Amino acid sequence: MPFDLQTALDERAREGLFRQRQILQSGQNRFIKLNDQTYLNFSSNDYLGLASQPFLTKAWQEGLERWGAGSGASPLVTGYTQAHADLEQTLAEWLGLEAVLLFSTGFSANQAVIKALLQKDHIQYQDRLNHASLQEAGSQSPGKMQRFRHNDMVHLESLLQPQSGLIISEGVFSMDGDQAPCQQLADLAAQTGNWLMIDDAHGLGVLGQQGQGTLSHQNVSSDRINIRMATFGKALGTAGAFVGGSRQLIDYLINFARDYVYSTHMPSAQAYATTAAIKWVRQADAERAHLQSLISAFRAGVADLGLNIPESETAIQPLIIGDAEQAMNIANRLRTRGLWVSAIRPPTVPKGTARLRITLTAAHQQADIALLLNELKECLSHV
Ligand SMILES: Cc1ncc(COP(=O)(O)O)c(C=O)c1O
Repeated sequence: MPFDLQTALDERAREGLFRQRQILQSGQNRFIKLNDQTYLNFSSNDYLGLASQPFLTKAWQEGLERWGAGSGASPLVTGYTQAHADLEQTLAEWLGLEAVLLFSTGFSANQAVIKALLQKDHIQYQDRLNHASLQEAGSQSPGKMQRFRHNDMVHLESLLQPQSGLIISEGVFSMDGDQAPCQQLADLAAQTGNWLMIDDAHGLGVLGQQGQGTLSHQNVSSDRINIRMATFGKALGTAGAFVGGSRQLIDYLINFARDYVYSTHMPSAQAYATTAAIKWVRQADAERAHLQSLISAFRAGVADLGLNIPESETAIQPLIIGDAEQAMNIANRLRTRGLWVSAIRPPTVPKGTARLRITLTAAHQQADIALLLNELKECLSHV
């Protein structure tokens, strides 16, 4: 046997870190159904409650009727349609980008950019808490990896060498909900002649004017960021991702990013539906305000309970438990009471920081937050 899979699996189980999937019997919504039980869902990245909205499923159906089910080829062959071009144009106009490229997943978008750009004489400066897709791409690229302490600009500055490569950070951190100091990142990049890439998977749609994301929220002008990336599978309610930047950057990726060139393009119907989602998201100020009021209510309630939740003004509210098994036990207890909250354990988060990753969405109501707080109080009192 060339591979000892069982030993690795046994070790995972011994550490209390064995992972299993759960089969949903419903779509993504305020309530989800699993094992014939209905749960109030606090574990979704569908931050604006868009994934199950009838207008969006209808748009996807229209896209299917017009363009068929699959795109049939990679984008440089015959897989690039007017539906994709329209989505690129919509994104460019919305976010103030010169050009945009689409990907089937955010994971592949990050692989594409980082592996295509960084050569062996380059350095990449990555925040320690960057998403696995950024770190994975970074460790596979020949560019030297330098990790800086989370959001620590003094540490980053001490590592930066002039004109050496790419600073990479998330806009809103996926497991913590806090934001990168984008203005300072842009200053450091400009001062040292390096490029800056922001993955705004969790900021797009939720923060900023017309939901333009973390940069808009922090008043950082678009032209200060060399590479912008975000996904459609979160606040936009569909799936896929984009990379945006200068026309030159996008032309380079079209020519050199293997993850783009050698992969079947996202179905046109999905691009068509995502364009409809963006039109809706741009006008969704009421939903964003509602989400913010839920976040404020949750944080006030958590403070009243004396619980320690790190600073986060976004939909991601991490309740740090520490021990992985204990985090699982609390999540299971919440489930017996009808609430679905995910326990996130290492290696997704650093050792000793297992947590309940509570996500709020615009589909929730104030009464849901009151219920969540009450159940948290009950479940945590048994720890
Ligand atoms: C910050 C960040 N970047 C990239 C991704 C990957 O995107 P996708 O799920 O579309 O592959 C995710 C999560 O899924 C993420 O949280």
